[in-house]
Amino acid sequence: AATVGLNLTDIQGDIVTGMTKNRETFLFFGIADAPSFKSKLRSGVLPLITTAMQMTKNSTQPNTLVNVAFSHTGLGALNVSDTLGDGAFTGGQLADAGNLGDPGTGHWVSQFVGTSIHGVFLLASDTDANVASTVNTVTTALGDSITQIYTLQAAARPGAEQGHEHFGFLDGISNPAIQGFDDSPLPGQASVPPGEIIVGETGDPFISQRPPWAIGGSFLAFRQLEQLVPEFNKFLTDNPIRAPGFTDQQGSDLLGARMVGRWKSGAPVFLSPLADDPALGADPTRNNNFTYALNGSSTSSSTDQSRCPFSAHIRKTRPRADLGLPENTGRHILRGGIPYGPEVSDSEAASNTTSTERGLAFVSYQSSIGNGFQFLQRFWADNTGFVEQNTGFDPIIGANKGANRTVGGLDPTDPSRTITLITDFVVSRGGEYFFSPSLSALANTFTV
Ligand code: HEM
Repeated sequence: AATVGLNLTDIQGDIVTGMTKNRETFLFFGIADAPSFKSKLRSGVLPLITTAMQMTKNSTQPNTLVNVAFSHTGLGALNVSDTLGDGAFTGGQLADAGNLGDPGTGHWVSQFVGTSIHGVFLLASDTDANVASTVNTVTTALGDSITQIYTLQAAARPGAEQGHEHFGFLDGISNPAIQGFDDSPLPGQASVPPGEIIVGETGDPFISQRPPWAIGGSFLAFRQLEQLVPEFNKFLTDNPIRAPGFTDQQGSDLLGARMVGRWKSGAPVFLSPLADDPALGADPTRNNNFTYALNGSSTSSSTDQSRCPFSAHIRKTRPRADLGLPENTGRHILRGGIPYGPEVSDSEAASNTTSTERGLAFVSYQSSIGNGFQFLQRFWADNTGFVEQNTGFDPIIGANKGANRTVGGLDPTDPSRTITLITDFVVSRGGEYFFSPSLSALANTFTV
């Protein structure tokens, strides 16, 4: 990859790697007094902001990582009036709910319904105490220049489930390597021009529309996605794939793996089609090294769904060879989400019914929400004709405004069989779109 001069001390750290910590709090706030907020942010919080440089492999990370991002209305509150060249950001996520397939906003967290959230602090560490202490530092520094509108505390799952999302599948395996930040991608990892994730950098398709201060920033799509885990497990139990010689349990496991495109260990079904392979799942040099191309070629794109359904979550959201190789889609996102909510209780498991909310605090960074998060949700996950007719919805995140979802290709013994999902196992509780500015923009544009 070409050497690109990214200013890593100027870019917020979450953008390039995610927070990589087991505890994270999202503090959504409104700006009550802009002049006071500006001076307090500058003196009390700016020195705490974690940079991309601090996320490089050889750097020591602070105890608690802190990032900040602003909504469109937040920019307005600060009198930052330049157009950023991103329509989804300008409109806000509430206006986008229909595009994303949400069944209205009846399930949304009430604080996300509206445009009163001006910004979000993201604070992450290894312990709750560290996070709480830094939350206290930040909120004390800002005093009543902000109103605290909504807080979501998130945490990695305990024990052997650490790193796995609530359905049980290992997450955080496949993120793009940003050229200029990570120039030695793992096998199968997408290597993307920095401008696919970072605004104003090489490869940003809207580079000419960006005000100079926006360079080094990134758009943050935040979504609180509830996961109905007992209901998901019941669906798998009730619908095992009847493959030759399979027990019911093996058939249920295969169905779940084909819905995601990976087994719970992270092993891709494309490489291990009929059974989990935990050694493969745990090996970063192998667990992302595939393209869906049948002949293993790095340039051709002859694909089918015998080993992995076109509808599988990871294939919908990164189709690899389905759209031709070398992969150059311009639609990569950098994911930095983390689970929230407790483990499934015995009574929830016994009744197959969620009673306490849990899910994924979804975070993605991209230089264009319309090319990134919104596109993946709207034109891939929710599009039944992608990548071909009868592919159906992404069974994990595909959304049909609350109506039933058809999914193709899940049953390898009968690829033409369509399965209808009556329950949305992932329920949108809403969110907001933010811009995560560079440190120099925070110092020079946002706080003067
Ligand atoms: C990958 C789960 C929401 C985009 C994955 C993986 C899992 C997973 C288990 C495989 C691990 C990996 O490759 O890193 C979930 C769950 C979600 C969710 C449970 C909701 C609760 C979303 C959303 C999007 C998304 C909303 C974007 C619209 C992706 C992408 C990948 C991925 C791009 C990587 C695909 C690849 O590079 O092969 N997700 N996800 N996910 N997910 Fe999700």
